[in-house]
Amino acid sequence: MTSQTMRTTVNTPGAYCTVIQGDNRDSLKEFTDQVDLIVTSPPYADARHKHYDSVHPDDFVDWFLSFHEPFYAALKPTGSLVINIKDKVVDGVRHRFVWHTIEALCEQGWYAIDDYIWHKTNPMPGSWPTRLRDGWEYCFHLSKSPRPYFNADDVRKPIGDWVESRLKKLGGNDLSRHNSVNESGFGRDISKWVGKDTVLPSNVLSLALVGKNKGHPAVFPVDLPLFFIKLLCPPNGLVVDPFGGSGTSGVAALLADRNCILMDNNPDYCAEAIHRLQQEGKATFNASLFQPEKPLPTNGSS
Ligand SMILES: C[S@@+](CC[C@H](N)C(=O)[O-])C[C@H]1O[C@@H](n2cnc3c(N)ncnc32)[C@H](O)[C@@H]1O
Repeated sequence: MTSQTMRTTVNTPGAYCTVIQGDNRDSLKEFTDQVDLIVTSPPYADARHKHYDSVHPDDFVDWFLSFHEPFYAALKPTGSLVINIKDKVVDGVRHRFVWHTIEALCEQGWYAIDDYIWHKTNPMPGSWPTRLRDGWEYCFHLSKSPRPYFNADDVRKPIGDWVESRLKKLGGNDLSRHNSVNESGFGRDISKWVGKDTVLPSNVLSLALVGKNKGHPAVFPVDLPLFFIKLLCPPNGLVVDPFGGSGTSGVAALLADRNCILMDNNPDYCAEAIHRLQQEGKATFNASLFQPEKPLPTNGSS
């Protein structure tokens, strides 16, 4: 492991973000029991060799387990770990190192609270002999207890204009829960929406890939960590991204007025993160996750 060589803090009126250069297994030692949320995207197996180290899919589970202890020790008992990751195709077949990693973490004591999907609204173009365009990635929500801090109210979306016109036309089927027309066993009760202004989002997050070059080859959209920060880190809490890259999680934390620590072992990415925090830490973001919900289906299953 490398030793820490650089530490810089960017302040906004509501929060701070500190960038620490070094191996996160070293840097995390000073944060024992202090962190509310670790939200991160580790290097994917066998990807971007030219930019930073990455391991073979067969070795990924063991490599990731080397982060288990430092991550677990840093989190408070109510804390959460969100891992954004994607598996890989090896010799034409999907390698399941991602599933095996999550199973191995659960064997170490982590609770698998939910599997979120980041649906990419603009997936990379291309064609492959046996597969279609890759349009999504996992975000696994793990925690130290079965009841981690969770504030769904902070990610509610406006219910949208559709509800007024739909509710004006409530029919008999809408006034109580009923089975869907295709007898799938699912039902809906539209009347439950009466008087509601907001609705909970689902665990599928539809967000565009980042188009602009942020000085890093694997940047995720600000709205992705922002969603989990609002949901899983209390106000005045502490967020850590131990594979911080260009600092996207730090930008999101400052926008949400949460304190944040970013860690990366590459000094160039730390410099890029500081630059972005200064430029975007209070910038307007694309609040697509917080936009009105689309109408419910009017027939079939809900
Ligand atoms: C997938 S990138 C993260 C990109 C980031 N989500 C963003 O939006 O810019 C993973 C990062 O982890 C860093 N990294 C790899 N191993 C590390 C380690 N042991 N400690 C700290 N950083 C590490 C790499 O330098 C790389 O920048």
